[in-house]
Amino acid sequence: MASIFTVFFLLSIMSLTLGGAQPQQKQCNQKISLGSSLNPTTSPTFWLSSSGQFAFGFYPQGNGFMVGIWLVGTDNNKTVVWTANRDDSPVTSNSTLDLTRDGKLRLRADEQGVEKLISSDATESASSACMLDNGNFVLYNKNGSIIWESFSYPTDTILGGQILSSGAQLFSSSSETNHSTGRYRLKMQDDGNLVLYPVNTVDDESEAYWSSDTSSKSFKFRLYLNYSGALEIINSTSMERVKALKSPLADKNTNTIYRATLVVDGIFRLYSHAFDKADKQNSSSPVHLWSALTDEDLCKVKGFCGFNSFCTLNDYKPYCACLPGTQFVDPNLESLGCERNYSEAGCGGGHKDYIANYSMYSKENMFWQDNPYAYVPMSTKEECSNSCLEDCNCDAALFKDPYCQRQKLPLRYVRGDTNSVAFFKVGIRSAESRNETSSTPKKPPLHHVTTKKAKVQIIVLILAFTTFSCLALGISGLYAFKIRALRYKRLKESETLVLTKGLALNLFSYDELKRATNGFKHELGKGSFGTVYKGALYKSKKLVAVKRLEKLVEDELDKIMGGEEVDKRTLENMVKVGLWCIQDEPILRPSMKSVVLMLEGITDISVPPCPTNVSIRIPKFLNEFN
Ligand SMILES: *[C@@H]1O[C@H](CO)[C@@H](O)[C@H](O)[C@H]1NC(C)=O
Ligand SMILES: *[C@@H]1O[C@H](CO)[C@@H](O)[C@H](O)[C@H]1NC(C)=O
Ligand SMILES: *[C@@H]1O[C@H](CO)[C@@H](O)[C@H](O)[C@H]1NC(C)=O
Ligand SMILES: *[C@@H]1O[C@H](CO)[C@@H](O)[C@H](O)[C@H]1NC(C)=O
Ligand SMILES: *[C@@H]1O[C@H](CO)[C@@H](O)[C@H](O)[C@H]1NC(C)=O
Ligand SMILES: *[C@@H]1O[C@H](CO)[C@@H](O)[C@H](O)[C@H]1NC(C)=O
Ligand SMILES: *[C@@H]1O[C@H](CO)[C@@H](O)[C@H](O)[C@H]1NC(C)=O
Ligand SMILES: *[C@@H]1O[C@H](CO)[C@@H](O)[C@H](O)[C@H]1NC(C)=O
Ligand SMILES: *[C@@H]1O[C@H](CO)[C@@H](O)[C@H](O)[C@H]1NC(C)=O
Ligand SMILES: *[C@@H]1O[C@H](CO)[C@@H](O)[C@H](O)[C@H]1NC(C)=O
Repeated sequence: MASIFTVFFLLSIMSLTLGGAQPQQKQCNQKISLGSSLNPTTSPTFWLSSSGQFAFGFYPQGNGFMVGIWLVGTDNNKTVVWTANRDDSPVTSNSTLDLTRDGKLRLRADEQGVEKLISSDATESASSACMLDNGNFVLYNKNGSIIWESFSYPTDTILGGQILSSGAQLFSSSSETNHSTGRYRLKMQDDGNLVLYPVNTVDDESEAYWSSDTSSKSFKFRLYLNYSGALEIINSTSMERVKALKSPLADKNTNTIYRATLVVDGIFRLYSHAFDKADKQNSSSPVHLWSALTDEDLCKVKGFCGFNSFCTLNDYKPYCACLPGTQFVDPNLESLGCERNYSEAGCGGGHKDYIANYSMYSKENMFWQDNPYAYVPMSTKEECSNSCLEDCNCDAALFKDPYCQRQKLPLRYVRGDTNSVAFFKVGIRSAESRNETSSTPKKPPLHHVTTKKAKVQIIVLILAFTTFSCLALGISGLYAFKIRALRYKRLKESETLVLTKGLALNLFSYDELKRATNGFKHELGKGSFGTVYKGALYKSKKLVAVKRLEKLVEDELDKIMGGEEVDKRTLENMVKVGLWCIQDEPILRPSMKSVVLMLEGITDISVPPCPTNVSIRIPKFLNEFN
């Protein structure tokens, strides 16, 4: 035991002393004493570093002010590098920022006394503060040790001398003038990779749009920008360089400030700001030194365009355009994506009738990464196009020789790529002419559910439905594992198998199990199951979707019981989603992603066919609502 501690002790001593890559501490030449305060409009509005290059204080945002750190520039040209509580709303001009006598950094938002501690994580009280020359704002205790520093809470930028530690992330700003959390994140993953993702995504390769390619099994890495502008991934244990993203320049101007920022557009870029030797406060425009993706790659930034839209570049500016058959949800906010503008023909009618209501549009050199529900070898693109037209669950197909994959809307991360052709199935009847209200209004009006009879019916049906789906999920959950194991075994045996990726998103019903015990030869060819990790991911997604559905049903039920107004559409959607989820045909079941999107009302939900083994008359129930 003692020897383990000795090793740890030695290791930590080593990590403190080894290597030039260790961030150096800057000296404080200009201490800020307790009792000092700042105001947004009356001087002092900020505290300067001794070099005059950095300032900490109030800067304007929107109609108010934020507290942050910026690089001082000419003509009030501030380069904000850090913001305190960036997602809080700006404060008024009546606010005060104090370094209180009891050693706290406190923001009083107005005279009514709404207070917020900026140094809330500091465990000791401060006895002084300092805006250091490297852009780090620090609080010191009595002994002169740093008890809190802005460098530990990076927002969208790291400066020379700063690290992004293992597990930490940068988040881009909303816009050049609004520094609240934006749409992209840069994560220094525990696996050693530095990765760019859109926000609100899991740390999965399928969501990433750039990576440093530096994964390590057993050691943690960090990102470090040193004082001469070398941007490196270093080994957190040995402090040695693992990979240089950008080597330093031969610039000997010690007044140059380096800054690596995850910019609003989702690209991670390195800049230098040269300060005049004589007049330190007169910085020139930033010089771009390096970036994770180039401006030609702007369309590779995932999530720039929303669902069902694709990215095109025009003069190094990315634009979003809707896929055929869709239109912008909000033409003023194109990043929200596009929605279907035709009405779907149900699968119920005859084959001829069905395909008569659709036409196919093809787009060359288009590509997306979403998991398809079907992935089959085909020899021609015409064959691929037809297979989608005839499949009433298919909204789009992608032909990448020799495979044809079929998808449902919505599609994500669509962009240009060579060697693939995309096909879109577009309904002939427009959504507008569909003499219905459901698809057009963005905020569906609330309908009263008035009659007692209706209420009782709803409750009974929902109860029956929840019970059934729980049962189905329980049973399928139980057998899914066994089936997969069996399939896996069969897959190994079979030589003529066809791999598909769709399997990962299917649930398994009792019926399927019955079929499976009959040998399910026809089910072969439905796929290998990737890694354990993906299985776990799938399981957690499934759980989330089921939990969400349960919660929604519960909430609505509460409302009905309480005699409140019920959003008819929401209720209807929940039941519809539930029905889609328990379809006998696995291919009919939506992916977990689609379920979440449907539940959140992002995508439209068509009326599902009634599963044969459900005895409840759901379609009748739905009709009663209309
Ligand atoms: C800044 O952006 C956030 C998120 O996009 C938004 O909620 C907020 O209203 C914006 N603030 C200003 C002052 O524009
Ligand atoms: C600031 O305080 C004064 C007096 O308390 C008040 O009249 C004024 O409206 C306040 N200004 C803002 C922007 O809240
Ligand atoms: C300050 O240093 C003294 C002696 O060096 C030590 O006893 C004390 O615990 C330290 N206080 C803090 C708050 O670190
Ligand atoms: C920054 O890193 C580079 C390369 O690792 C090294 O050559 C340079 O001396 C370092 N600069 C400082 C100020 O540590
Ligand atoms: C990281 O440092 C440790 C300890 O010095 C070393 O054993 C390991 O090989 C290093 N890993 C990499 C990938 O450099
Ligand atoms: C800042 O520098 C530019 C040239 O680099 C010079 O033209 C300008 O007058 C300087 N501004 C100030 C305020 O010194
Ligand atoms: C000042 O800001 C504008 C845009 O906001 C930018 O184009 C310009 O380069 C900046 N100038 C300096 C000296 O940073
Ligand atoms: C297709 O459209 C025709 C009219 O154009 C209609 O009679 C038919 O019912 C539609 N088929 C389906 C399956 O909706
Ligand atoms: C759907 O929108 C597109 C534009 O994105 C338009 O060209 C098309 O005519 C619309 N279709 C219908 C049926 O309204
Ligand atoms: C819907 O249909 C009715 C008659 O069936 C018609 O009077 C009405 O104008 C239609 N509404 C729309 C929006 O087309």
